Amino acid sequence: MVTYYTEKSKMSDLICDEPSLLQMMCRFGIPLGVGESTVGDICARHQVHAPTFLAVANFIKYGTEAADHFASEVSIPQFIVYLKQAHSYFLDFQLPAIRRKLIEAILSDNEGAGVSEVANLIVKFYDEYMGEVRRHTDNENSSVFAYVEELLAGRRSSDFEIEHFARSHSAIDTKLQELKNIIIKYYTPGDAAELLNIVLYDIFICERDLHKHCQLEDLLFVPAVRALEEKLDLDPSVPDLTTPEGEDILSSREKDVLAELVCGLSNKEIADKLFISVNTVQTHRKNIVRKLDIHSVSGLTIYAIVNGIVQLEQLNRLNIK
Ligand SMILES: [Fe+2]
Ligand SMILES: [Fe+2]
Repeated sequence: MVTYYTEKSKMSDLICDEPSLLQMMCRFGIPLGVGESTVGDICARHQVHAPTFLAVANFIKYGTEAADHFASEVSIPQFIVYLKQAHSYFLDFQLPAIRRKLIEAILSDNEGAGVSEVANLIVKFYDEYMGEVRRHTDNENSSVFAYVEELLAGRRSSDFEIEHFARSHSAIDTKLQELKNIIIKYYTPGDAAELLNIVLYDIFICERDLHKHCQLEDLLFVPAVRALEEKLDLDPSVPDLTTPEGEDILSSREKDVLAELVCGLSNKEIADKLFISVNTVQTHRKNIVRKLDIHSVSGLTIYAIVNGIVQLEQLNRLNIK
């Protein structure tokens, strides 16, 4: 009998029990320094939807059985933010970091003798792999999540359904397994054996992370979206995330307020800039939080960036992230 993590579990116990949850916390925007607090307290403090956090954490720890148990409890908008953050992490941090170490290990091995043909082929193989991951995640960001955001706004596409994605969704860790096997079985390291071992260990971790990520999409995200589709088919007025205009998850005015908010403006400053009252700003803020189910400014910032409401460079210029 599995004892799942609950809102009453201590966050530090979760991390010690399953260290890979550290990456997950990061993607939810939860920093370290958790003290003796429970999952429920920490989620409330960082305005993270606790059932979604627990669904992902229990899935990472306990696998498919946990997916069946928690799929109906996830908040789809928060889940999309989480998955987009994971995509950024893979492409902007984890895979480039492995590439740098891999090149360093291989080049150290060939010092003085020129880079061997095998080393070149390994880097080429890795670059092709990164290209595959980019195409895979770009498709999810631009097509699949866009489709789901339309659903959340109450609009059902007639030419796409989540089943199409589920049927064609492929594993993205397979090629990484191949690379790992090539290095383990056929690459003879020279002086940089230790460095290469470190890279191999990183590849093992990355492969497991990517595998779990794909499973999360198949076993938690797809069922949650399928349930939303069924709900919409039964009652097209559901869900109540539809804006009064019925145009988008957020109305254009709410997007304006959100853009100013994540740029660090106060309610008063937003009101002055947009020529509306402070009360109206507060109402927009409440509606934004209710519709997205994202409560923290850091979470809203991520949402605003990934949905093109603000540009990352804009925040960098203002020194806000
Ligand atoms: Fe993905
Ligand atoms: Fe995927």
